[in-house]
Amino acid sequence: MEIIIQPTHHELAAITSLIIRDALLKKPNLVLGLATGSTPIGLYKALVKLHREEKLDFSNVTTFNLDEYIGISIEHPESYHTFMSKHFFDHVNIPSENQHIPQNTTKNHEAFCTSYEEAIVRAGGIDIQVLGIGTDGHIGFNEVGSSLSSRTRIKTLSLSTIKANAIHFDGKIDAVPEMAITMGIGTIMDAKQCLLLASGEAKSEAIAKAVEGPITAMVPASILQMHPKTTVIIDEAAASRLEEVEYYKRSYANRQKLMSQKQ
Ligand code: GLP
Repeated sequence: MEIIIQPTHHELAAITSLIIRDALLKKPNLVLGLATGSTPIGLYKALVKLHREEKLDFSNVTTFNLDEYIGISIEHPESYHTFMSKHFFDHVNIPSENQHIPQNTTKNHEAFCTSYEEAIVRAGGIDIQVLGIGTDGHIGFNEVGSSLSSRTRIKTLSLSTIKANAIHFDGKIDAVPEMAITMGIGTIMDAKQCLLLASGEAKSEAIAKAVEGPITAMVPASILQMHPKTTVIIDEAAASRLEEVEYYKRSYANRQKLMSQKQ
């Protein structure tokens, strides 16, 4: 795992956008795995800025979102379809047929989940998967206890996730859908690269467990320790409970030094 610690959310969003920009310049038909939640909003803003100011071209990009609630319409203001249009898709040139978000309206969820997995394979697999993390260490909607090799499927949300997400539903716990379709942990692990983002003190415990704790289904993000190319990009507050901060900072500085010598 590569750990990048930045002063604030602003810098972590900027750095992540540059990682994606560089990958996109190398591979115009990049396949991006996308996340929702408050954490990646800054990243989407930064990518939209690159599109507007540097003409970063997304016309050959394909995207797959991690998850979507079941039980609310895709037009609902808090659906992940609405979120993605509002924060990203309405502002860049990704063809709509290349945008994939789990369909919550299907009657045959099992067939849909299989077809989602097949569509990812047909696209050539996910090149970069963007991830946030729940305060309990979940990724996507792979709640605590999820199989570490799970595939796209339906999950019931934990009480902790329902409570955390209630802020998006006027604080009303009863308004938060209880179920969702989510890529599995095995699906996420198949991505060629994962970028795990977190900011704020509230995420510090989850980050410490995911990065420095044992690999366990009780902290789903901890499986990323087994991924060959995961970069954890966090701010100082989210890094505050990590034990090896000095090492992570020095490693990152050394990698930067090597990169600048190459150029
Ligand atoms: C939800 C999403 C996750 C996200 C998490 C944290 O559970 N399904 O993908 O990482 O919330 O969201 P936030 O970034 O708002 O803290």
